[in-house]
Amino acid sequence: MGNLTIAIDGPAGSGKSTISKKISKELNIVYIDTGAMYRALTLKILKNKTNIYDKAEMNKILQNTNIDFKNNHIFLDGKKVDEEIRNNEISTNVSDVAKIKEVRKKLVEIQRSIASNKSVIMDGRDIGSFVLPHANYKFYITASIEERGSRRCKELKEKGYNANLEEIIKEIEERDRIDSTREVSPLVKCKDAFEIDTTDKTIDDVVSEILGIIRGDN
Ligand code: DC
Repeated sequence: MGNLTIAIDGPAGSGKSTISKKISKELNIVYIDTGAMYRALTLKILKNKTNIYDKAEMNKILQNTNIDFKNNHIFLDGKKVDEEIRNNEISTNVSDVAKIKEVRKKLVEIQRSIASNKSVIMDGRDIGSFVLPHANYKFYITASIEERGSRRCKELKEKGYNANLEEIIKEIEERDRIDSTREVSPLVKCKDAFEIDTTDKTIDDVVSEILGIIRGDN
């Protein structure tokens, strides 16, 4: 059998990454969190105080940045940044970085090259529609905004951060708005994607549902 490719898309906080991680373990395939790549680049941009509207500055940073995955960890210029990329400053800035055409070109190239020679489950916003249009399976994962906000709130509190539900909901709505209305590969539900609303489902329910669809086919 050839390589298996699974594309998972959906808005912020829908449960994509938790679900994708579990499926990757079950199927023993590589998990690629493309959101983490946009976050890593945003981290570098914030640290370097790069003006994202200055093309020359952006080209320079894109040429001099190395982002990759090793054993499910994300590395920015050789340094592991899994934790750092989750902070609030990154969350509020990442969508503006992710809408830049040159940024997407560079990161999509890396994503496609990772998927070119192995089985992968990749999650993001444009995986089924653009990065891997020929994926064997495409899923579109959603949940109500209230549910997505309260999941995120709980996660932050568990990590010891202050979290205000209303503010988090506003931040997620703003991110969804930018991600869905941008010019270059916005978040869309592909016609050939299975849509799963996780609002009233547990993670394990959704994982079983997806595995059922994949295994049921073979
Ligand atoms: O999945 P996440 O919340 O970590 O993603 C962070 C941001 O990156 C998200 O707001 C939009 C952007 N993103 C994107 O534009 N395309 C992807 N394939 C993945 C993420």
